[in-house]
Amino acid sequence: MEYITLNNGLEMPIVGTGTNTYGKENNEYNGAIKNDIPELVSALELGYRSIDGAISYRNEALVGRVLAESNVPREELFITTKVPAAEEYTSSKEATRAAIDNSLKNFQTDYLDLLLIHSPIEDKELLKNTWEVFEEYYEAGKLKAIGVSNFQKHHLDQLKEFAKVKPAVNQIQINLKEPNHELLAVLEDEGITPVAWGPMKTEAHQKEVLDEIGKVYNKTGSQVLLRYQIQRGIVVIPKSHNRDNQAANLDIFDFELTPEDVEKIKNL
Ligand SMILES: NC(=O)c1ccc[n+]([C@@H]2O[C@H](COP(=O)([O-])OP(=O)(O)OC[C@H]3O[C@@H](n4cnc5c(N)ncnc54)[C@H](OP(=O)(O)O)[C@@H]3O)[C@@H](O)[C@H]2O)c1
Repeated sequence: MEYITLNNGLEMPIVGTGTNTYGKENNEYNGAIKNDIPELVSALELGYRSIDGAISYRNEALVGRVLAESNVPREELFITTKVPAAEEYTSSKEATRAAIDNSLKNFQTDYLDLLLIHSPIEDKELLKNTWEVFEEYYEAGKLKAIGVSNFQKHHLDQLKEFAKVKPAVNQIQINLKEPNHELLAVLEDEGITPVAWGPMKTEAHQKEVLDEIGKVYNKTGSQVLLRYQIQRGIVVIPKSHNRDNQAANLDIFDFELTPEDVEKIKNL
């Protein structure tokens, strides 16, 4: 595993696993919650240590139980979860504290590695209150890093007006369909690490080129795509229900794309 150092010095695995359909009937986002997550068990066996959760996924408690039962030491894990922007969680500081306390309970831990605001909170007062609670838990050591998700530049600017702690990451959609080049440049300037959700999404014509590049390295197009992201300092959290794909998504540290490959992929 390779790590990226966040702006507060915390090391985050550069590849993690998404969980938004884990432990759900038919692997559907809105499916009923089941009683086990074989995919998470296999991910841990394969060496995944960074787990991308969210309150909205409804499976925090199940994910937490599987993590606890895995016997992987807590200090090896990097647990991320996200507080929804909805008023239920952000209408008061008490509501935000209750949400964080509940996530800590769900993950059976006394600290989370990373907590994100799941999507922009448009009301400035509510954003300020929410961030202040994040900072309070951060200062208390219950959150090792705090950040945001799906924030555009103007949302980051708004946060900057009062934030004492700079967001460590912005988790946004980054893939060949939504390359997000402009926002990535902003994040680089600000020293905020980009985390790519939906990293696997590609069009058929893009996949052909990725597969072609992969042949040179004896890798699949999907592996080339993930390598392309991490080589540019982007954390990826691909999700897979298939053990072989999970293994492939971790097997991206033994080759390096040339600047020409990178340029070719960028222009797809
Ligand atoms: N912050 C946000 O608003 C937000 C939004 C969306 C998602 N997320 C997070 O980001 C995570 C990942 O995003 P995502 O789940 O939307 O999409 P994704 O990881 O880009 O794509 C998942 C799909 O790719 C396939 N796949 C994975 N590895 C593959 C491989 N090596 N070869 C071929 N196919 C492969 C999977 O199929 P198989 O199961 O068949 O392998 C699955 O259908 C989520 O689980 C969630 O934790 C966050």
